[in-house]
Amino acid sequence: MKHPHSKPFLPDLETYQARIAEIWASGWLTNHGPELRSFEKALSQFLDVEHLCFVSSGTMGLQCMLRELPRGGEIITTPYSYVATSGALFWEGFRPRFVDIDPRRLCPRADDIRRHIVPNTRAILLTHVYGIPAFPVEMEALAKEFGLPLLYDAAHCFGVKYRDKSLLTYGDMAVLSTHATKIFHTANGGAVVTSGAEIRKRIEGYRNFGHDGPNEFKGPGINGKNSELHAALGLAILAEAEQLLEKRREQWHRYRELLSQIGDEHFLEIPADTEHNGAYFPLLHLDRKGADRLEQNAREDGIELRRYFQPALNRIDYLQGEPCPVAEAIAETVLCLPLYHTLSAADQEWIAEKVLSYL
Ligand SMILES: Cc1ncc(COP(=O)(O)O)c(C=O)c1O
Repeated sequence: MKHPHSKPFLPDLETYQARIAEIWASGWLTNHGPELRSFEKALSQFLDVEHLCFVSSGTMGLQCMLRELPRGGEIITTPYSYVATSGALFWEGFRPRFVDIDPRRLCPRADDIRRHIVPNTRAILLTHVYGIPAFPVEMEALAKEFGLPLLYDAAHCFGVKYRDKSLLTYGDMAVLSTHATKIFHTANGGAVVTSGAEIRKRIEGYRNFGHDGPNEFKGPGINGKNSELHAALGLAILAEAEQLLEKRREQWHRYRELLSQIGDEHFLEIPADTEHNGAYFPLLHLDRKGADRLEQNAREDGIELRRYFQPALNRIDYLQGEPCPVAEAIAETVLCLPLYHTLSAADQEWIAEKVLSYL
């Protein structure tokens, strides 16, 4: 494929090797060693968040986060996300209650969520999909009114700010993914950002088998740790993260300009007060035939367009969701354009020209 949808950023090899040499010298490969501790500190500083816990994946972060809730019952959630969002809650023994999304913001609205709150609702779990804020201020007010925990899947939100603070700081907890497909990554990994030190401490317990000392245990836990090698990769990439974000935002705006003639309704709408990261460039609200033709023609020309996120999660059989017509229609035709750090302006011009010609 000439232009895959994404390519992982690889940091300067010598920088990474120097960190690996230190790991070799110490022989400390995992279990919260010096690389992981420095990485957690550096990542917290970069993101401007106070409490952060690095885990083995975003999905593991979601599972640890959900462990904070009383077992069983329903969680109100979005049908428009990656399967990990509702997969994690199902895995942890909850039933999803899907609320259909706003067609422009791509997440449920607070008033629609209000109508779905029932006595055994345990929490609200939403996704800031593509890094677009999922009405966090309205949602915090609603969650407070009903005394419900507000949890965010913030897998896409590296570097996103809303109203001058990290999007990861909204709600009681938020989970970032640092998987290789993300702008900033650690090959595999994720981080749980919590609103206080007490919750962070409990998450640290869950990720480490429930240990509260070498031979003491405070409740159950799992192996959600990440390794020194992953943390070292994170440190090496974090040194270049500012430039990566800048480049990605530039690329995002370039596509937006090159394709502007197809109409605003086909692009993400970045809400006011948002410093976006440009992580994804989805084409939205295409007609079914047009989207299929576009995907097929692009593939023949070596351009990979990904259907992030298909299907709508309420349509996955084991999740047994009620119909969500807006999310289903969007999921059916969404196509995301290639975006990665080595994609040049000339590449983007060529891709945009092709896309316009297929449409
Ligand atoms: C919205 C969303 N949530 C969760 C995840 C899962 O994260 P991870 O791959 O780090 O487990 C992803 C994808 O990677 C995602 O896109």
